[in-house]
Amino acid sequence: MNHEKVLVLDFGGQYNQLIARRVRELGVYCDLLPYGMSIEKIREYSPIGIIFTGGPNSVYEAGAPDIDAEIFRLGIPVLGICYGCQLIAHKLGGKVAHADTREYGKSEIEYGESILFADVTKKNICWMSHTDYVSEVPAGFRISAATKTCPAAAFENAEKKIYGIQFHTEVHHTAEGEKILRNFLYGVCGAKGDWTMSNFVEEQVSALKKKLEGKKVLCAMSGGVDSAVAATLVHRAAGENLTCVFVDHGLLRKGEAEEVVSVFRDRLGMNLVKADARELFLEKLKGISDPERKRKIIGEEFIKVFEKEAKEIGAVDFLVQGTIYPDVIESGKGASAVIKSHHNVGGLPSVVDFKEIVEPLRDLFKDEVRKVGTELGLPDSVVQRQPFPGPGLAIRIMGEVTEEKLQTLRDADFIMREEIAKAGLNRDIWQYFAVITSTYTVGVMGDARTYEPVIALRAVTSVDAMTADWARIPYDVLERISSRIINEVPHANRIVYDITSKPPATIEWE
Ligand code: XMP
Repeated sequence: MNHEKVLVLDFGGQYNQLIARRVRELGVYCDLLPYGMSIEKIREYSPIGIIFTGGPNSVYEAGAPDIDAEIFRLGIPVLGICYGCQLIAHKLGGKVAHADTREYGKSEIEYGESILFADVTKKNICWMSHTDYVSEVPAGFRISAATKTCPAAAFENAEKKIYGIQFHTEVHHTAEGEKILRNFLYGVCGAKGDWTMSNFVEEQVSALKKKLEGKKVLCAMSGGVDSAVAATLVHRAAGENLTCVFVDHGLLRKGEAEEVVSVFRDRLGMNLVKADARELFLEKLKGISDPERKRKIIGEEFIKVFEKEAKEIGAVDFLVQGTIYPDVIESGKGASAVIKSHHNVGGLPSVVDFKEIVEPLRDLFKDEVRKVGTELGLPDSVVQRQPFPGPGLAIRIMGEVTEEKLQTLRDADFIMREEIAKAGLNRDIWQYFAVITSTYTVGVMGDARTYEPVIALRAVTSVDAMTADWARIPYDVLERISSRIINEVPHANRIVYDITSKPPATIEWE
């Protein structure tokens, strides 16, 4: 890849991936790599700028993440954020002090003259999250912004192009934070901005054409965003030589299995093999209530069905995996090929006769994957699809999975999705779905008594599914969902809304 690159050195802060995403959104490619990278490796990487992220440590702690001060003599611009700015001060002879209380949240800030703050409103709001602060800037540096409690909220040595900021430009709570980051990239580092998703598609397709010419390629299509975009990208390059296998386990939401066929086979003309395993999965799940057993059975059966299809296709040269950048960062820091632990595909390489894995999305964040999908002409219903668990609706039905419950759940879930979309809330909510509980309650319909399982609605906001909050859906939207489900779906007589965050609850009910 011949793009200009920024190196984001990871010191362990919670917003680090966000920093890298923001840099990319501003049109500059970057990698998030561990702070321990050697000076030699950094030279080899040849970045146009380096960003130090935040981190949980104090620079004076024994074993705190450190860097070789040689980095400041490479002539490459440096921006240190939070811990990163304290490290700059500490390494270059300034002082870092420990405050009595943590400063967390929005702070009023006053920006002074600096290329970083060009066109930024001088009196402004920034987002702080720190206890230590820079109490004395190093010789040759000057303070360029301050808050009431943080005297050196920003400092710089413009000649050496070294900048420190205590606040977090990457979160939206910092007003005009994007402008500050843009000023660093374009004003200080001289970026041209050559990272766009249409460039990416063009380059990848031409690289894949060379790599895959005359080769047989296989891809497992799950219906999820990553495998859909990976397959479509590879299809552009490999055409007929790509075969996609879609295992329909009958546990997808209403209309999803049909959509896979209509988009990929009918519209895009892909070679799509659909294995209809709906009855098999229902049979295997008969009488099973334990969530972990359900997961295990579904995982194993999925692999078996895929193996059968793969045998029929025969040996292939390449197996496509929808690995994306966060998977690479999380499992082994970028060096080697990662096989997704996602149960749907995790076991596949062992049952497919292939020579090499191809991972066309391994450099992309999820939002970039979605943009590539749109660039490739995939509909919103595919690229904006919310995260969906591999075991599908089986873990949204408490207790035994039956066809009747699946039908009720699909219909209730569909109504919820429709109403959330109509209310314009679909982009703000991370996941939203219905659940069939194992609690039965009495209801009255017309003159008749009913006795049916309670249906729960779950909707959460989140950035990474690690933590989540229940979504504050307006009452009138909840009311519409509830009354439509009761009126339109057989076996529905009571709807409840889940108001638990994660932790202590999880997003899914099982
Ligand atoms: P929880 O329920 O643990 O979910 O808060 C976190 C995220 O992971 C998804 N999830 C799964 N995904 N196989 C998957 O591929 C699974 O068994 C599974 N269980 C939960 C869940 O939808 C949420 O996005």
